[in-house]
Amino acid sequence: MDTWILRKTGFDPQDAPTDGNRFLCANGYMGVRGVPEEAGSALFPAVNLAGIYDQYQDRWREPVNAPNALFIQLSFNGQRMALGKREPLSHETEIDYRHGIYRRETEFGPVSVRSERIASMAECHLLADRYQIRFTQDGEMALQTGISTDIWDINGPHLFDFQFEAGEALLVQAITGQKKITVAAAQSAVCDFDGTESFAQDDSGLFRTLRRYVKKGDTLTVSVFGAIYTSLDDPEPGRTAQMLCMEAKKKGFDTCLRAHKDAWEQIWERCEMRLEGDEAAARAMHASQYHLNSIAPRHAGNLSIPARGLSGQTYKGAIFWDSEIFFFPMFVYTQPEIARSLLRYRIETLPGALKKAREYGFRGAYYAWESQEGGEEGCTNFNVVDVFTHRPVRTYFRDKQIHISGDIAYALRSYYEITGDRRLLEEGGARVILECARFYLSRANGHLDTEEADFADVIGPDEYHERVTNNAFTNHMIRHCLESALRLKQIFADQPEWFEDLLKELHYEKDWPLIQALCGHIRAPKTRDGVIEQFDGYFDLEDCSLDAVRARLRDPREYWGGDHGVAGTTQIIKQADVIAMMALFPGDFTDQQTAVNWHYYEPRTEHGSSLSACMYAVTACRIGRPELAWELFMKTADIDVTGGGKLWAGEIYIGGTHPASNGGAWMIAALGFAGLQMKNGRPELHPNLPKELQRLSFPITVNDETYLIEVTHSGGTIRRMKC
Ligand code: BGC
Repeated sequence: MDTWILRKTGFDPQDAPTDGNRFLCANGYMGVRGVPEEAGSALFPAVNLAGIYDQYQDRWREPVNAPNALFIQLSFNGQRMALGKREPLSHETEIDYRHGIYRRETEFGPVSVRSERIASMAECHLLADRYQIRFTQDGEMALQTGISTDIWDINGPHLFDFQFEAGEALLVQAITGQKKITVAAAQSAVCDFDGTESFAQDDSGLFRTLRRYVKKGDTLTVSVFGAIYTSLDDPEPGRTAQMLCMEAKKKGFDTCLRAHKDAWEQIWERCEMRLEGDEAAARAMHASQYHLNSIAPRHAGNLSIPARGLSGQTYKGAIFWDSEIFFFPMFVYTQPEIARSLLRYRIETLPGALKKAREYGFRGAYYAWESQEGGEEGCTNFNVVDVFTHRPVRTYFRDKQIHISGDIAYALRSYYEITGDRRLLEEGGARVILECARFYLSRANGHLDTEEADFADVIGPDEYHERVTNNAFTNHMIRHCLESALRLKQIFADQPEWFEDLLKELHYEKDWPLIQALCGHIRAPKTRDGVIEQFDGYFDLEDCSLDAVRARLRDPREYWGGDHGVAGTTQIIKQADVIAMMALFPGDFTDQQTAVNWHYYEPRTEHGSSLSACMYAVTACRIGRPELAWELFMKTADIDVTGGGKLWAGEIYIGGTHPASNGGAWMIAALGFAGLQMKNGRPELHPNLPKELQRLSFPITVNDETYLIEVTHSGGTIRRMKC
C-alpha cells in the first residue's frame, strides 16, 4: 500500500458529498472540494473561503464559497462527457497526501480524461489543473473552460451583482450580500492545440469554448489556472486575480506544481509522524496530517480554523473550542507560528467576547461558542431541527457552554510553556487570560454558608446534558484559568511595572484578590468509588446501556440531546467529558483515578462527536492500556479516509472533513503512544506503543529547539536535531 495515496474506483453521485471531503485540496486560504472539473451544484462543488462570512435573509450565517475558477467541461459530437450525466466506462479518483494533488481518470468511451489539480501551497490565491484528453474516435470536440457560478451553498446565495469580463484571463466578480465584500475569480488557460474560440456567459458563469475536429489517437492537454482574491486581500481583487493567472500561465503548470510540492515537502519536514508496522495506520496518519496542514491559515497570522475546515459551509464555518484543544497541539509542537495564528485570532476577537459577556449580564470575556469574524457569535438559539416536527429545537450551547473561555486561556498558557515565547502574552494574550478569569468571577455562584462557589446552569463537552451544575470538566478548566491569571504575575516577575500597568488599565485591582479567593473555593466534584461525577445529579440518572438508548430512537437522524432527546435522562453521554479533563490535565490525576473513570465512562459514551475517541485513546495509553487505544486511534485517524462521522444532527447536515479528529490522531500518537509531556520546560516521554506498531518517530520544536522523537517497544529517545 502506498501510504501517501487514497484511491477510489467507480463513481456514484450519492457519494459526492463525502467524496468532496475525502479528496479535498486546500491551502489555508481556500478549500476546493474533491469533485470532478465538470461538476455543477448537484455534485456539491465549492471553493470555500477562509474567514469571510455572509448571511442571506434570516438563514444561518455561513462562510462564502467563491465561483469555481477551475471549471472544465468536455463535449464530443455534441454529447457532454460529464460524470453525473453520463455513465463512465471507468473512473478513478485519487488524493496524493504528500503533495496535496487531486487526480482523476475517467473513460467515457469515445474519450478519456485525466487530470491533476492543486490549491497551491506556494501561492495561496492560485489554483491549477492540468487536464489531458485522449480520443478513441474521430469527431468534433468542444472544450469549455471557465468560471462556474453554479456552486453549492447551504444557506445562500451569498454573491450578488455579478460582473463578467471575457479575454485572455476571464473574470467573474460579485459582492457579498451583507458586507459588500468583492469576491473575484479569474481564469486563464493554455492549450497545446488550437481551434475555433468563442465566449459565452449565462446564469451559470463565463466560459471560453474551443472547438476542433479530432482524430482517433489524438491527445490534447489544457492547463487551467484559477485565482481568487477578495477586497479584503487587495483593493483591486479582479485585476490582481487576472494578473496572477496570467503569470501562472507564463510559468506553466509544471513550474507551479514544483513550487507547490516544495512547499508541501517543507511542511512534512517539520511535522511528519511516521508509524511503522501497520500500513493502514500509517496512511490514516498521513491523511490526518494532510487534512489538518492543508487548512492551516499560513497566509494570515490571525485566523483560526473552522470545525469542518475548508470543506464547506457546515457548522457555519465557525471556530469552536476544537481549535484550542484539538488542532492546537500538533501545531504548537511542530509549527508554532500556526498555533500563534489560532491564538492571535482569539486575541483580536476579544472585543466580541467582552460584548457577549455584557449581553448576558457578566463581566470579562465570554467567547462565542461558534465564532465567526470579529468574534461574532454564529451559534443560534435553535441549533438543531427536530426530525419529527421539523421545528427548530431550543438549544443552549450559545448561552451555557462557558468552558470555551477557559479552553482559550488553557491554550495560551500551553503556548507559552511549550514555545517559551512570552511575546504572545505581552501582545494581548495576558489580557485575554485576565478577562476570561474575570468572566468566571462574575459567573460564579458563591455560597456564604459553605464558602464554596459553584457554576450552575452550564453545558460541558457532553452536549446531551444541557443546563447542569458543577460540570467537572468546566469547573476544572475554570480553576486552571484563574490560576493562569494569577501565574501571570510570576511570568512577568521581571517586568512588574508592565504587569501592574496592565492590571490598572483593566481596572483589575478589586478582581485580583477575589480571583485568588475563588480559586481555592470552587466546589470539588463528588466521587463514588473513585468515579468523578460528571455533574451534580449525574449518578441519579438512569444507568442503562448505549444499545438500550439507541433502541429508543424512532429515526436514525434523531437528535439525542435537547428537551426530549433519548440520552438526556440517562447516563449516556455524547463525548468525552470527565475523560477529556483527565486527558488535558495529566498531572492532576493519578493513573489509578484515570483508570477507574475510563472504565466507568467509556461504555457510557456514544462517541457521537469526532472529538471524543482521541481523549479516550490518549488516556488509555496513560493507564498503560494501549490495546484499548488502538481501535479508537484507527477510528479517529481514518475518519476522512473512509468518509466516516455523523452526517446529521436532527435535520441539520453536519458532514465535512474532521480537523478535530485529524489533530486528535496526532495527539494519540504523540501524547498517548509516545507519552510526550512537558516537564519544567523540557519534553519527556512515557511511551506506550501498541503491539500493532513497531516504531513511531516524529519531530517537535520546543523552545526553538527541534528534536526527533523515536519510540519502539524498548523505549523512547529524544534527540536534538541540527537546524
Ligand atoms: C461537539 C462539539 C464540537 C462541535 C464542532 C459538536 O458536535 O459536541 O464539542 O465543538 O461539534 O466540532
